[in-house]
Amino acid sequence: MRLNYRKSGFGLKALLLVHGFPFDGRMWEAQIQGLSDEFTVIVPDMRGMGKSPASGTEVTTMAELADDAAELLDALGIETCTYCGLSMGGYVGWEFWKRHKNRLERLILCDSGAHCDSPEGAAKRLQTAEKMETEGNCAFLVEGMKKNLMTPRTLADGESPVFTVFQKMVSENNPQGVASVARGMAQRLDFTEKLAEIQVPSLVLTGEFDVLSPPEKMKALAERIPGARFAVIPEAAHLSPMENPEKVNDEIRAFMNK
Ligand code: MLT
Repeated sequence: MRLNYRKSGFGLKALLLVHGFPFDGRMWEAQIQGLSDEFTVIVPDMRGMGKSPASGTEVTTMAELADDAAELLDALGIETCTYCGLSMGGYVGWEFWKRHKNRLERLILCDSGAHCDSPEGAAKRLQTAEKMETEGNCAFLVEGMKKNLMTPRTLADGESPVFTVFQKMVSENNPQGVASVARGMAQRLDFTEKLAEIQVPSLVLTGEFDVLSPPEKMKALAERIPGARFAVIPEAAHLSPMENPEKVNDEIRAFMNK
């Protein structure tokens, strides 16, 4: 598998940042800028998204994406990392933990969840996947998604760079690749009962106004992971690393230096 990625910094500790759906590595720009002074920051576009080619299969599973991430580390000669995933990146994170434990130093979950889709949720995803393929683009997702992903403040700002990047990532994305990943998300496993087995230091972050991964749910998730730190990111919704990068970067830096 060929993946488009960026690597920045020369720190001894590696930080792998895995984006959400249907985004790409551009969502981590502020983390690359803010954290590569101290860490080696690796930011892939996951298979079928951003500039990484789709595999051409109907379904791309979270396990395949986790294996891609491990292969990328191999290709870069990096043995272990702190894995940080946002939302879909978190779903991939559980698989990375399960399949590549020896590569994982620490785990960071941003605005994500350990549950699988309900039957209705999965059916809706499959319909959306089909629509992407028939329409031949993902731009129609922007309107439906935006209010769930950003704060009213970001949305009210007609010149918000966060909104502009969000819109670009979604509408420029490859419909076949994104549809395949959507089908993979619909099949993902429920990791809730596995959280107690996680033995690496873990950090769980979520935006104060995240309606998809609300603070009370993320707090309950963090409480299931032994010793996990939980923090709420103020003035942010689902895209917390974009909406409040200073606070997210401070949390990540402090956690990685503990
Ligand atoms: C994401 O941001 O990755 C999505 O909200 C994940 C999902 O659709 O479950």
